[in-house]
Amino acid sequence: MGSPPPIAMPDELELPQLMSAPAAEAVIDGRRMLYFGGTGYLGLQAHPEVIRAGCAALERYGVHSATTRTNFGSPSALAVERVAAELTGKEAAFYFASGYLGPQILLRGIATEFDAVFVDAQAHYCVHEAAEQCRLPVATFVHRSPLDLQAVLAAHLGGGARPLVLCDGVSPVTGAIAPLGEYCNVLRDYAGAGVLIDDAHGFGVLGEHGRGTWDHAGLDGPQINGDTLPRQTPAPSTSVRQFACVTLSKAIGGHGGLIAGSAALIRRLKEQSGHYRGASAPAAPVAGASAAGLRLALENSQLRDQLRRNVALLKHGLGRLGLPCDDSPMPIAGFSLGDQVNMERIQRELLAHEIAIGFLRSYTNLGPHGALRIAVFADHQPWMIEKLIAALQNIM
Ligand SMILES: Cc1ncc(COP(=O)(O)O)c(C=O)c1O
Repeated sequence: MGSPPPIAMPDELELPQLMSAPAAEAVIDGRRMLYFGGTGYLGLQAHPEVIRAGCAALERYGVHSATTRTNFGSPSALAVERVAAELTGKEAAFYFASGYLGPQILLRGIATEFDAVFVDAQAHYCVHEAAEQCRLPVATFVHRSPLDLQAVLAAHLGGGARPLVLCDGVSPVTGAIAPLGEYCNVLRDYAGAGVLIDDAHGFGVLGEHGRGTWDHAGLDGPQINGDTLPRQTPAPSTSVRQFACVTLSKAIGGHGGLIAGSAALIRRLKEQSGHYRGASAPAAPVAGASAAGLRLALENSQLRDQLRRNVALLKHGLGRLGLPCDDSPMPIAGFSLGDQVNMERIQRELLAHEIAIGFLRSYTNLGPHGALRIAVFADHQPWMIEKLIAALQNIM
């Protein structure tokens, strides 16, 4: 098993250029248009409170601390950790430069408590890379298939071995949600088993409290990223251990990766992580903005409720056009429509109507032709979504 093979990348200069904040209306290639791309699901990247908090942190602390966190503490990063712990109901948190690092940092801290890892074959690059680096045997299972997971576990595990399943909480391109409850059911036969999710896209969006995919599955609680178990302690056979890492760069409107959990686990992750010992803290303005974004996203459900109404409107409209989309609350619809030439045409013609959607030529879980990807935000107005659906109908 290995991470996905290298791919021919498009020349970034030839792609549509995003020349403003990624809000419902954005400037692309110098023209103001409706924007349905990217991951700013709650519309927070340009929220006045987020911008103000980022500017205040920049003025107070400068660009960043220019020291590692084990030399001088970084109040702006510590503030993010405090707010994140408070709003996710955890004891502590670890805030670091990029969500991409999350699976690697978390897996490194818990790897000794498992005997093999089982990775969703279409998980994000960073999940595959973390698995490759963790020095445990690695096997893959078919994307979002509890049945295949069951078969792969049976084929690879000897008696008493403790499996750890790795996957995305939400697939970045299609928005498909991982069947976490079903994975846990499969794993109940394996004492000491665990599931670790990269919840980059679920955090701030899914679940009653916006805490992400575990919350959506009805499995949220202080047990997530809980205390590590000493190797000798027999784990209760009925409970599957739960882990998650998230990013603040998508729904939260800030930037950087985050792991929130028990004080003991977070201390251990920091002790073991070169990103704590040997890297600068995340830059002060993004830390200031991220703390404000966390409050706006998680303190109440207003933005999520707004987003859910827009998701329903978008998916209803796409359904009317016969386009494939599920009825989940994820604000993403990703699908292939013919070949690459056709999908590039659709993207181009929508741009001519001043509507921008994504076209991904390749990504972790795409077919050979790529996919169109539509993301809806909390700050889209109903008329904007209707305009997109009408334009799609004309163009397809
Ligand atoms: C599933 C997933 N994990 C991690 C990342 C990386 O997060 P960040 O942008 O915070 O580094 C992304 C994409 O950006 C992603 O889609």
